[in-house]
Amino acid sequence: MNLIFLGAPGSGKGTVAKKVTEKFSIPQISTGDLLREELKKDSRLSWELKSYMDSGKLVPDSIIVPMLKVRLSKKDCEKGFILDGFPRTIAQAELLGKEGVKIEKAVLFDVPMKEVYDRIVNRRTCKSCGAVYNILTIPPKKEGVCDKCGGELYSREDQRPEVITKRLEVYAKETEPLIEYYREKKKLIKVDANQIPEKVLQATIEKLRE
Ligand code: AP5
Repeated sequence: MNLIFLGAPGSGKGTVAKKVTEKFSIPQISTGDLLREELKKDSRLSWELKSYMDSGKLVPDSIIVPMLKVRLSKKDCEKGFILDGFPRTIAQAELLGKEGVKIEKAVLFDVPMKEVYDRIVNRRTCKSCGAVYNILTIPPKKEGVCDKCGGELYSREDQRPEVITKRLEVYAKETEPLIEYYREKKKLIKVDANQIPEKVLQATIEKLRE
């Protein structure tokens, strides 16, 4: 099963994708995580990426598309995958079609804009294993320390207030049109993501099994 997880920054796509991965035994492919891995290297590309990501802009297709193709060619994608953060534009969606990537469902995580802002500001991510917390709603047991691996928790550069505003603008302009795009193709599933994570997960699984 090839799935797309769609939704505003902070809507909880990544949080749910990590759990759905366990249930359906398909990998989560987060383009944001692929890019953040690249950022860890001290290369020309990493500096270029940083300038886009830290200002809330989309990275050019000439960079993200080849990275995604390499990831999709790995053996663990043979039985399906969850694309978390791709496509983000109609052009990226059409590119998937041209590459022969068939999508079964696009799941939209629906959350009010005020809520996503608060979720992003309060997010903490583990430097070692990438686990995601929220200091208000999903806190770690010990402040600043990952429950799963003991790694250090940090705030992403792109969760500064001015960058969040830019990311939400980019989402409204570039990514929201994908909702209609997948609705017309009869592939859209809408999940109410403005509820506790367990309920969002349950609703997602129920809708995927329908
Ligand atoms: P990316 O990493 O994809 O970020 P994003 O889509 O903006 O999404 P986030 O990771 O911020 O949020 P999320 O929806 O996964 O929510 P999360 O689960 O973390 O992209 C980053 C950048 O990379 C982009 O700006 C761009 O520059 C570049 N990029 C990536 N893909 C690209 C592409 N295809 N093309 C071009 N550029 C690209 O949850 C958020 C918080 O809420 C957490 O604290 C979590 O604990 C909490 N939370 C989750 N669910 C709930 C709940 N139900 N109730 C309460 N709190 C919750």
